Amino acid sequence: MSKPDKPTDHYFSATTETPSKPKTFTFQFNGRNLEVLTDRGVFSYGALDKGTKVLLEHVPSPADGPVLDLGCGAGAIALALATHGTTVFAVDTNLRALELTKQNAMNNGLGNVKALSPNEVPDDQRFATIWSNPPIRIGKEALHDMLNQWLPRLLPEGEAWLVVQKNLGADSLHTWLQTMGYSVERVASRKGFRVLRITHARAG
Ligand SMILES: C[S@@+](CC[C@H](N)C(=O)[O-])C[C@H]1O[C@@H](n2cnc3c(N)ncnc32)[C@H](O)[C@@H]1O
Repeated sequence: MSKPDKPTDHYFSATTETPSKPKTFTFQFNGRNLEVLTDRGVFSYGALDKGTKVLLEHVPSPADGPVLDLGCGAGAIALALATHGTTVFAVDTNLRALELTKQNAMNNGLGNVKALSPNEVPDDQRFATIWSNPPIRIGKEALHDMLNQWLPRLLPEGEAWLVVQKNLGADSLHTWLQTMGYSVERVASRKGFRVLRITHARAG
């Protein structure tokens, strides 16, 4: 996990005064070589995050229809989703992250990525698939609020895939999601991370 650059400046802060020092990494996904420009003050500076890597090793192809990368950072997951050709909403509260995601979509020739602040996404927008490495470090209450804002926007047959570090509360998040009425399956447990598949619970 990337460390904040100073105590008051977190990767999830809306703006950062941390001086820019861009760094690029590449990764392979869906037969594509994807190049990701990163910067200080944004999660996963200079390298694909280990949790994100575990998630991308386990997700199936997304369903047709608009999809969401919740907490896009520099855009690694959004780019991976975009290789499937569907419209990708890449959402983050960190403005430097959104600029990087826009730049990365353009640099990789992926015109189907919309990098937006949460309040720029229309309220009635629904998603066939959500992939996320969620911001656990914002705290439990803020994390729950964020998930309560976005998971109800999954289409009835939609699936959300989350990766969460085991020692940062993956199992308690699993239980909380169930108490909120979702079906949750632990699809993988690798390298200290859990991959959770979340769907709307079926009645009866
Ligand atoms: C763990 S990072 C994952 C970044 C990127 N998806 C990746 O895999 O490298 C989580 C991201 O969520 C963002 N974030 C924090 N609070 C948020 C919120 N309320 N809504 C959307 N994104 C948020 C952070 O700024 C951060 O970029």
